[in-house]
Amino acid sequence: MPKYFVKTWGCQMNVLDGDKIASLLEELGYEKADKLEDANVILLNTCSVREGPEDKVFAELSRLKKLKKKNLEILGVAGCVAQQEKNAVFERAPYVDIVMGPRSLSHLPALLRQARDQRAMETSDKEDSLLFPPEILRRSHPTKASVTVMEGCNKRCSYCIVPETRGREVCRPIGSILEEISVAVERGYSEIELLGQNVNCWKHGNEDFTDLLDKVSSVAGVKRLKFMTSHPKHFPLEAAKLMAERENICNFLHLPLQAGSSRILKLMRRQYDRKFYTDLVAGIKAAVPGIVLSTDIIVAFPSETEDEFEESLECLLEIRFDSVFSFRYSPRPGTPAAEMEPVPEIVARERHQRLMALQLGIQTHDHARFVGNTVEVLVEGVSKRGGQYMGRIPETIVVNFTSDKALKVNSCHRVEIQKSHPHSLEGRLADGA
Ligand code: SAH
Ligand code: SF4
Ligand code: F3S
Repeated sequence: MPKYFVKTWGCQMNVLDGDKIASLLEELGYEKADKLEDANVILLNTCSVREGPEDKVFAELSRLKKLKKKNLEILGVAGCVAQQEKNAVFERAPYVDIVMGPRSLSHLPALLRQARDQRAMETSDKEDSLLFPPEILRRSHPTKASVTVMEGCNKRCSYCIVPETRGREVCRPIGSILEEISVAVERGYSEIELLGQNVNCWKHGNEDFTDLLDKVSSVAGVKRLKFMTSHPKHFPLEAAKLMAERENICNFLHLPLQAGSSRILKLMRRQYDRKFYTDLVAGIKAAVPGIVLSTDIIVAFPSETEDEFEESLECLLEIRFDSVFSFRYSPRPGTPAAEMEPVPEIVARERHQRLMALQLGIQTHDHARFVGNTVEVLVEGVSKRGGQYMGRIPETIVVNFTSDKALKVNSCHRVEIQKSHPHSLEGRLADGA
């Protein structure tokens, strides 16, 4: 059997697209290769949100060039770099055979046929992967089934390339969302994650995001329901109330702040200011006691002053997120922010270090609250270092724990927490105790 390898960078949406690409290849009779070197078909499923990930793609392509003289027949670039660069991918790497954008996944079989004779490209922004047949989707995550509820983004944050690569918003009808979830539950997935660039902007007919949460959480067999990413401008308190009411909606929310300074937020075109965000979080915390929050922060956006940067630090101290994905600002071609005055790199690096150090301290301190508690853990596998099981509490924090009994992946257990770390908790099985 011919073999394939799909290598994915980027967000959860892209990870799901990677699973979709792999599923299509398996339908066509390809078998997964253990390593790149063994593959006859390689697809790089790429991300262009910052310069770093984009550079990695072209570095990887030059490494793969030599495999083309061996058993590698078809080399493709998929994902957001493909959509953004289009023909320029062939110009920079002439040995690439396929360029396929994120909204053109269904074209893969045709592209593969065409690529046997000539270069093949599909980067239409009309298609959407919302129509992907759920029966053929093979998911790589051991416990979680991610389900796309909307594609694309209608915002125009001044730094962001995503609206360019993922196109305008398209929301999926509720019937087809529920159908995919039923298939996933039947296959044993008890954890469902709804995905969208701005998942809480989902609407269809008269129904909005809160209605969607209501219906999905009512599907029999859904034990843990999560969703991401939520845009602060559109997060309804009714959704927070529903989270509190429904046992199976996880008390976890990823809510990107981006910056603490209202002037910077305005330059970013985020459509909210610091007060709006902190008031929203206060409302959500009041509605959902014990909610665990995570966020994204961009450090050193063009023209950010020291005082404005410190406002981001103040927000971290005030809100106390459980995790923060922080990035140094990276100029993206064609975006308005790329024309603005950059913060010197050395200043940006230093600010980023300080922000990460502060957040590490917050997590070290706050995770200690779990020690001595018994929590519910869904097992995902064995821990990275081995010898322990690894799983997550409903609020997504990782727990590594010991157990005398053999445990199954995708089973739920009570675990007593004995130790805490900034990025995880540690304990022992407490079932039956
Ligand atoms: N739709 C989501 C996230 C999209 S991209 C939202 O609006 O929040 C994921 C994260 O990458 C963003 O939240 C942002 O923090 C970061 N990001 C996007 N563009 C960036 C850029 N040009 N430089 C640095 N970070 C960026
Ligand atoms: Fe990018 Fe803003 Fe859209 Fe998020 S909301 S994907 S940051 S443009
Ligand atoms: Fe990257 Fe595209 Fe996701 S740019 S973050 S893979 S939407």
